[in-house]
Amino acid sequence: MSTPVTVTTLYRMKQQGEKITALTAYDFPFAKMVDDAGIHIILVGDSLGMVVQGETSTLPVTMDEMIYHTRLVRKGAANAMVIGDMPFMSYQTGVAQAVANAGRFLKEAGATAVKLEGGAGVVATIEAITAAGIPVQAHIGLTPQSVHQMGGYKVQRDEDRLLEDARKVEAAGAFSVILEGIPSPIAAKITQTLKIPTIGIGAGSDCDGQILVLHDLLGLNERHVPKFVKQYVKLSTAAKEALSTYKQEVQQGVFPGEEHSY
Ligand code: KIV
Repeated sequence: MSTPVTVTTLYRMKQQGEKITALTAYDFPFAKMVDDAGIHIILVGDSLGMVVQGETSTLPVTMDEMIYHTRLVRKGAANAMVIGDMPFMSYQTGVAQAVANAGRFLKEAGATAVKLEGGAGVVATIEAITAAGIPVQAHIGLTPQSVHQMGGYKVQRDEDRLLEDARKVEAAGAFSVILEGIPSPIAAKITQTLKIPTIGIGAGSDCDGQILVLHDLLGLNERHVPKFVKQYVKLSTAAKEALSTYKQEVQQGVFPGEEHSY
C-alpha cells in the first residue's frame, strides 16, 4: 500500500470483497509500526483510557487528551486513514458542540474522520457532522460509553434493533460502521444489508473488515482479555524479561560495557 487510504478506497474494497484491516494506536512509534505493516485504518480510540491511562472505563477520557494523542498518531501514519474517536460527552450534549468537537480532530490533529457511538439516537449528530464535510464512522452494538446503561460490557443480541441502527447510521451519512459485540449471524446480515463497510470487533468473520485494540493484539494489556481478542505476541512478557536483565546487568557491572562507553 503506497497511497493514502480514503473513504473511496474503503468503499471500493467492500465492493471488491477485499478485507479492510484496522487497529488502534495512541502515539507515534506504534502508529508508525501499524502504518508500516500496511494496516488500512488507525483508530485513535478512547480505549486510550483503559490501555494507556489505566482507567477502568473509557468515560474519563477528554477531548484535549484525544486531540493530543491523535496528533501523535498522525505523524506516524503515512498512508493509513487516521480516525479520531469522539470521547464521552463530546457529542452527546448537542449537535453544535458535536460538530465543533469533530472539527477539532481535523483542524488541530490532522485526522481524516471521526468515530462516534450510537445508532438511531445519533442520526441528527451524524447528519450535522457529515454536512460539515467531516466523514463519520458509526459504532453500534456493544458501545462502551454506555456501559452503565447496558449493565456491563455485554454482547448485544437484539437483531431488529441492531439492523435498524445500522440502516439509520448509513442513511444519516456514515461512511462506515463498527460492529462491536454482536453475534456473527447478525453482523453478517448487517454487512449484506449495508452499502457502507462494516468493521467488526467481536462480531465474527463476515464483516467487511476487522479492528482490534493494539495493546490486546500485542499482549501489552495484562488486564482482562476478552474472548474476541487474539494475542499475536506477548510483548509484556518479553519487555519484563528485558527490564530484569537490564537491572541484573547494571547491578553486576556488566552494563555498560566497553562497546557502550566513550
Ligand atoms: O475505543 C476503541 O478502541 C474502539 C474500538 C475498540 C472499536 O472503539
